[in-house]
Amino acid sequence: MSSATPRKGFWQAVDERIGITALEYQVPEHAQGLGYSLGAVTLVSFIVLVITGIWLGQFYNPMPATAHNSVQYILTTAPAGFFARNLHYWAANAMLLTALLHMLRVLYSGAYKRPREANWLVGVALLALTVGLVFTGTALKWDQEGYEGIAHNLATANLLGGLGTWFSPSFSASIPTLTRLYIAHVSILPILLALTFAVHALLIKLHGLAPNALADRNATTRATAHEPSHATFLEHLGAAGLYSLIGLGLLVFLATVVPAQLGPAAVTGVEITKPWWMFLPIFAVENFVGLSGLLWASIAIFVALALVPLLDRSPYLHPSRRRAILIAYGALTLLVIALGIYAKLAPGAAHIGMGG
Ligand code: HEM
Repeated sequence: MSSATPRKGFWQAVDERIGITALEYQVPEHAQGLGYSLGAVTLVSFIVLVITGIWLGQFYNPMPATAHNSVQYILTTAPAGFFARNLHYWAANAMLLTALLHMLRVLYSGAYKRPREANWLVGVALLALTVGLVFTGTALKWDQEGYEGIAHNLATANLLGGLGTWFSPSFSASIPTLTRLYIAHVSILPILLALTFAVHALLIKLHGLAPNALADRNATTRATAHEPSHATFLEHLGAAGLYSLIGLGLLVFLATVVPAQLGPAAVTGVEITKPWWMFLPIFAVENFVGLSGLLWASIAIFVALALVPLLDRSPYLHPSRRRAILIAYGALTLLVIALGIYAKLAPGAAHIGMGG
């Protein structure tokens, strides 16, 4: 008996089951550029961090007495431990860097304007979670830099009073702060980041990409996603995948030739190191105004970011029509970079009274 069902190719059969052609909806032509793929590249770094992090978690011991030794074990003995740690380190650098570049692209192209204000705020939350992941990650290695990072964390928590309770050792008598930061690093923060990203992606799908800000001096946010286009979302995934693969190649190269550092085991009660590059601008502010600068400068940066859609409410996208906001936030960016360079060149300093 012959079947009436027409024979289908393999891909048709796969498509029927998981709906790949549903991804062939149109997206604006400019989505194919690197500037519009930086969010995806950031996401790929996060995925690399999760995979390498799961591997490192098999060998890392988050108790203060053994944490540093276990990192040394990862570097010298654990299978693929040296490479996994280096890749984790470089992916963390890449994730933060590309998230910042992605944010600057969104800022420059005015894509935070109506109706995308809420998604800008979701993005600010993603950045805060990324910084939280980087910070907790630097503490885990429990070398001098990691120890001083936690000491700063505790001192800042004291400034916050009741709001800083979670960071205080007295919060949990049974689990050390380092171990609780580890739990934050491997579960609380990544889960929150994944959920927040899901909201980010849903809102991107809802609004579509913002129109090309540079195409027309009169371009507005309202004349949106219905520009004529030959590109599909599937093609955008292809382009973003290609940029991500190039980035991944670079990460593997760096992980092979430039190992992540591990300082000697922490000596308590002294303050002699400087933090990672992303925290250097805050370190500079601490040099000028002391520990409270860490708290206030961090809050000020995130408040300044959250205010962007409120400060610039005109519908126009072209940079020439948004000079004030671009100059203000461009100056802020340069100030943060200048503070970072100053902190890199300045001698080490004790900020929390532990002595150098
Ligand atoms: C840290 C992790 C982040 C991930 C994984 C991520 C991911 C993405 C992706 C995949 C897109 C699609 C287009 C593109 O790649 O440019 C996007 C768009 C967007 N993102 Fe993010 N993002 C992150 C952080 C941020 C930050 C820090 C902000 C701003 C503060 C932000 C604000 C936006 C906005 C407003 C859009 C819509 C842009 C448009 O329509 O042109 N995102 N994001």
